[in-house]
Amino acid sequence: MAVKNIPVREGQPNLKDYEKARENFSWEEMKQHFSWHKTGKVNMAYEAIDRHAEDPKKKNKTALLYSSPGREEKVTFHDLSRSSNQFANVLKNYNVNKGDRVFLFMPRSPEFYTSFFGILKIGAIAGPLFEAFMEQAVRDRLQDSEAKILITTPELLERVPQQDLPHLEKIVLVGDHEKKGEQYIDYKQEMETASEDFDLEWVDLEDGMLLHYTSGSTGKPKGVYHVHNAMIQHYATAEWVLDLKEDDVYWCTADPGWVTGTSYGIFAPWLHGVTNVVRGGRFTPEDWYGTLEKYEVTVWYTAPTALRKLMSAGEEAVKKHALSPLRHILSVGEPLNPEVISWGLDAFDLRIHDTWWMTETGAQLIVNFPSMEIRPGSMGKPIPGVEASIVDNEGNELPPNQMGNLAIKEGWPSMMRTIWNRPEKYESYFINGWYVSGDSAYKDEDGYFWFQGRLDDVINTSGERVGPFEVESKLIEHPAVSEAGVIGKPDPERGEIIKAFITLNDGYEDSDELREDIRKFVKTGLSAHAAPRELEVKDSIPKTRSGKIMRRLLKSWELGLPTGDTSTLEE
Ligand code: WT7
Repeated sequence: MAVKNIPVREGQPNLKDYEKARENFSWEEMKQHFSWHKTGKVNMAYEAIDRHAEDPKKKNKTALLYSSPGREEKVTFHDLSRSSNQFANVLKNYNVNKGDRVFLFMPRSPEFYTSFFGILKIGAIAGPLFEAFMEQAVRDRLQDSEAKILITTPELLERVPQQDLPHLEKIVLVGDHEKKGEQYIDYKQEMETASEDFDLEWVDLEDGMLLHYTSGSTGKPKGVYHVHNAMIQHYATAEWVLDLKEDDVYWCTADPGWVTGTSYGIFAPWLHGVTNVVRGGRFTPEDWYGTLEKYEVTVWYTAPTALRKLMSAGEEAVKKHALSPLRHILSVGEPLNPEVISWGLDAFDLRIHDTWWMTETGAQLIVNFPSMEIRPGSMGKPIPGVEASIVDNEGNELPPNQMGNLAIKEGWPSMMRTIWNRPEKYESYFINGWYVSGDSAYKDEDGYFWFQGRLDDVINTSGERVGPFEVESKLIEHPAVSEAGVIGKPDPERGEIIKAFITLNDGYEDSDELREDIRKFVKTGLSAHAAPRELEVKDSIPKTRSGKIMRRLLKSWELGLPTGDTSTLEE
């Protein structure tokens, strides 16, 4: 079904004209919006929180509108400023210094945001971990980052393999517990006595702020390192793309364990002093519509996988809710299906604006600008200050309509600055001055970019990025599994699902029970979203002569496609 292009909506005031914005643009000018432009004193926590807390007009404005099943809270900029000062003092007491890694492994909660800004205030580097991670995933990330402090809950503590983490000095426990031992710090108790005054650590724009672990096609997850300078782009895109205004109520549905949940679930709205809705707990259509209605959300940033679920919940579900305050919707994480855009027009009478970027890029790069015609299926065009193109494998630009590597010209503010512990990996992203994304795409004659797929084996399941290697490594830890090859298999609701091919060790027979046991093993060892939905037992797994699993071949077999070049296949 072809979905028609959707013109710009009338009655959206003050939208930036896309072409004009690009023409006269300089990142230099953007810097004037920050206090450090005059004072020379930099810290993301100051720009996002303290600056508003010092402003008599904004001080008592709600920064955080938090809810989760059984808990509801409103936190002002003043509150958040004071509590994060307290937490910074707690960290200081335990000898946390600038540049140290402090990780958070907990569900979204007011304490999460307090701790997060406490970490930034002391100049340390925050590492948020998704609450669904299991032991292996937690171990890999805490080991690689050599985290000194972990903030977690008593419930999640059992997934923290303390014996394997020699660098971890202290664990801050948020919630009631009976843990004894000098490695534990009680959040509540420490906060009760901590001073609300803290001399914020001024940093350099290029100092570390955040480590987000993400998956590639080979090796363990890699620590994508972001610096305070990224705020320039968070601020800019919040204005142009999220179209945030002073009185908006904004909801980004992503968890801060993923980059969308930090760049756009924390920084973008708060740099503008906008009220930010955070909803914890699991997804249900009723709950999501309820959240939009209850908080009178005006700007909503979500993901195709959620939109598809809402769509399948049907018309009735939407109509039950009064959603008239909602004026702007955006999407990220995976291809946004034209059908979903079309449904959005019916359900909300609004356009859904797709945006493209990656953990590595730190902020949006290619977007459907609110002032641009939407071509359903296209990710849109590069934001001002960013040059995107399609290049061949040598980094030469290709003409319109030709498919190739989606690449970005080096030099945007929010770009990662390295891969933690692996500078050579960082270098490998660049060819001929281009950052090569790993996605394939083409550009039409009018400059719109069209996503085609991943060029590597990275899997995108319900918008979550999964590295096949991690899953394969976990699978072969199971006593029954000898070898494993893991691919993404197209799926209408989830984008892709994880499918694993395995061979069995001697003495094991294929059965439903065994496959279920292996699935559970990955689910409880790594994480739920990394557990293969489909598992197939084979006699052998195709490998190259050098021993690399040929995932491409597995995928071709699975999809009944031509197998292409198999000259490197071992006997
Ligand atoms: C990969 C990055 C940073 C946002 C969350 C994902 C895919 C992202 C789109 C889009 C098609 C998209 C790409 C990209 N992706 N946005 N609008 N259309 N695909 O971040 O986990 O680092 O994944 O997600 O394949 O490379 P991530």
